[in-house]
Amino acid sequence: MGGAGSSWRKADVANRYLERMRGRRPLEETRLDVLFRLIEARGEPIETFVDLGCGDGVLADEILTVHPGARAVLLDHSEPMLSACRSRFDERGLAVRPVLADLSDRSWPSLLSEEAPFDLAVSAFAIHHLPTETKRRTYEAVFDLLAPGGLFVNLEHVASPSAWLEAIYDDLMVAHLVAEGQEGDRSPADIERDYRERPDQHDNVLDRLEHQCEWLEDIGFRDVDCYVKLLEIAMFGGRKP
Ligand SMILES: C[S@@+](CC[C@H](N)C(=O)[O-])C[C@H]1O[C@@H](n2cnc3c(N)ncnc32)[C@H](O)[C@@H]1O
Repeated sequence: MGGAGSSWRKADVANRYLERMRGRRPLEETRLDVLFRLIEARGEPIETFVDLGCGDGVLADEILTVHPGARAVLLDHSEPMLSACRSRFDERGLAVRPVLADLSDRSWPSLLSEEAPFDLAVSAFAIHHLPTETKRRTYEAVFDLLAPGGLFVNLEHVASPSAWLEAIYDDLMVAHLVAEGQEGDRSPADIERDYRERPDQHDNVLDRLEHQCEWLEDIGFRDVDCYVKLLEIAMFGGRKP
């Protein structure tokens, strides 16, 4: 089983993330607040959106809580993740369509033609698994899939400018995870080892934020910016004119 981000197709990697990592990143509330300000500033309700690398649909759930009438396409290449996603939205009466697709496969945009064009495209902690060129191609595809005025927001790991800064980020994450506490009798040493030896890190291909924002501008996005940043975690994007 190979390909970009392929460890996520394994049930143990997906479950470990859902149980121990997710929802535990610093500044989560601030990012959500800014995301909803960006959405609101469009001045029109969100009727359709897509979440790329949706995992179990946690971010889409936040958006659907505020925009329950929106049609959502939730794309991921991991069957265990999509299965958790289906369970989350089962019998809630929301217009959610999970799509099993690989972002490194050029054909994924064609699977979204039923709902496109989209008012909003989001992605959280997923695109950094793609090789550099594929990331850029993904941003081009997102631009094509958006309606005029459509917004793209990518919440993402980006490359630290230096090993010194990267080490500070890792220490911050360990301190944050320990402070959050975890279920059972997992000691701070267990939590730290678990973080530093997490299996999915080998799937990371981190690129510099500045380069990615330049690509977005070159592709044609406007209002490109990093809307929130905490060391290696950045929320950036732009709007289709
Ligand atoms: C760190 S998880 C984030 C999940 C979710 N967005 C969240 O915020 O909890 C990364 C997700 O990206 C997905 N992913 C990684 N590479 C992918 C690819 N090439 N195509 C589609 N999805 C991918 C994984 O399957 C996984 O669900």
